[in-house]
Amino acid sequence: MNEDKSNNIFIFPRWTSVLRPAIAIGTLGGLLYATVVVAFGFSPWATDVGYAPVQPVPYSHALHIGQLGMDCRYCHNTVEHTAAAAIPPTQTCMNCHKTVRAASEQLIPVFESYSTGMPVEWVRVHDLPDYVFFNHSAHVRRGVGCVSCHGRIDTMEVVTQVKPLSMGWCLECHRNPEEHLRPVEFITQLDWVPEEDQLALGRRLRETNNINPPQDCNTCHR
Ligand code: HEC
Ligand code: HEC
Ligand code: HEC
Ligand code: HEC
Ligand code: HEC
Repeated sequence: MNEDKSNNIFIFPRWTSVLRPAIAIGTLGGLLYATVVVAFGFSPWATDVGYAPVQPVPYSHALHIGQLGMDCRYCHNTVEHTAAAAIPPTQTCMNCHKTVRAASEQLIPVFESYSTGMPVEWVRVHDLPDYVFFNHSAHVRRGVGCVSCHGRIDTMEVVTQVKPLSMGWCLECHRNPEEHLRPVEFITQLDWVPEEDQLALGRRLRETNNINPPQDCNTCHR
């Protein structure tokens, strides 16, 4: 029995604590369960595509980016340097809205947040399970643009999740990143299209920059 247990621990590293109920069932059951969940992880069924929660302020990316031409990094200013792409603090909005539309009813929660110091309660749209490790800077600094994972945010009145964010989806690109690589200066230009064939460009960028997205489990589960 002891041997069985250590076997289990070997098969399931610490991050798989989600699988603990399976481990209790025993090696065979555990393996079966793992096979099922891995298969599920690889499948496109697990998906929140289309999720577009109502936000406390009707902030529009279509207006601020599509029409006013702002760059993503004005607000999501950590995206090139850290794992997370920060949601902007109220101060960032107030840089303009102290004077622009300073009487707008739509902006009342922003003005209240500014005077109380309590942040606006934005509702999270994209949300990976806690056992998955993701890093923005590792992607955007290698030439994967926002559009590959978030779609045309610059045309959205309400942010909508457009990709499944499933394990199969991550791995599909990690196996064949060529279709998604662009020169880093265009990562936030969502409507950018290459003048040449995307695959030819992607292959060249991959080779010159030595881009090799890892596929081993501990890249994303640690
Ligand atoms: C003026 C500031 C501002 C700019 C510029 C901006 N955003 Fe945002 N973004 C926000 C705010 C505020 C939210 C949270 C509310 C929401 O989801 O609409 C947000 C939310 C998001 C989300 C969803 C976050 C989540 O909860 O999953 C994504 C993805 C996103 N922005 C991408 C972009 C991209 C790509 C660009 C550039 C094309 C961009 N943003 C430009 C302010 C901005
Ligand atoms: C660079 C300047 C700038 C920044 C920064 C900015 N906005 Fe705006 N915002 C504008 C302009 C310009 C308009 C359009 C005003 C108009 O239609 O005349 C606008 C319009 C709006 C409106 C519509 C208001 C109405 O009554 O129609 C909302 C809501 C809004 N912004 C929210 C935000 C939020 C939330 C942030 C911070 C995440 C933000 N804005 C940051 C410039 C900015
Ligand atoms: C390789 C895919 C990928 C790329 C490229 C990408 N994102 Fe994301 N983004 C994600 C995923 C996945 C999440 C959810 C992360 C989580 O739940 O931990 C996310 C979440 C976000 C969030 C919510 C805050 C956070 O970090 O969780 C914002 C804002 C955002 N992305 C903006 C951007 C912007 C702006 C760009 C381009 C400069 C960009 N993203 C490029 C996949 C990507
Ligand atoms: C559109 C393509 C694409 C998608 C989708 C994508 N990745 Fe990546 N990923 C890459 C590329 C390209 C790299 C950089 C590889 C390099 O630097 O050699 C990378 C690197 C990474 C790294 C850093 C690896 C390291 O140690 O340097 C992590 C972690 C990662 N990806 C996790 C994820 C996760 C989790 C998802 C899904 C939620 C995901 N990726 C989706 C293309 C993608
Ligand atoms: C490129 C990133 C990436 C790599 C590499 C990766 N995974 Fe995952 N994995 C994910 C993501 C993202 C999810 C969450 C899927 C979801 O929420 O639908 C996930 C989910 C899972 C789950 C839970 C499935 C479920 O539906 O609950 C298991 C088990 C799993 N992965 C095992 C593995 C194993 C074993 C490996 C190595 C062969 C591996 N993963 C490699 C990104 C990755």
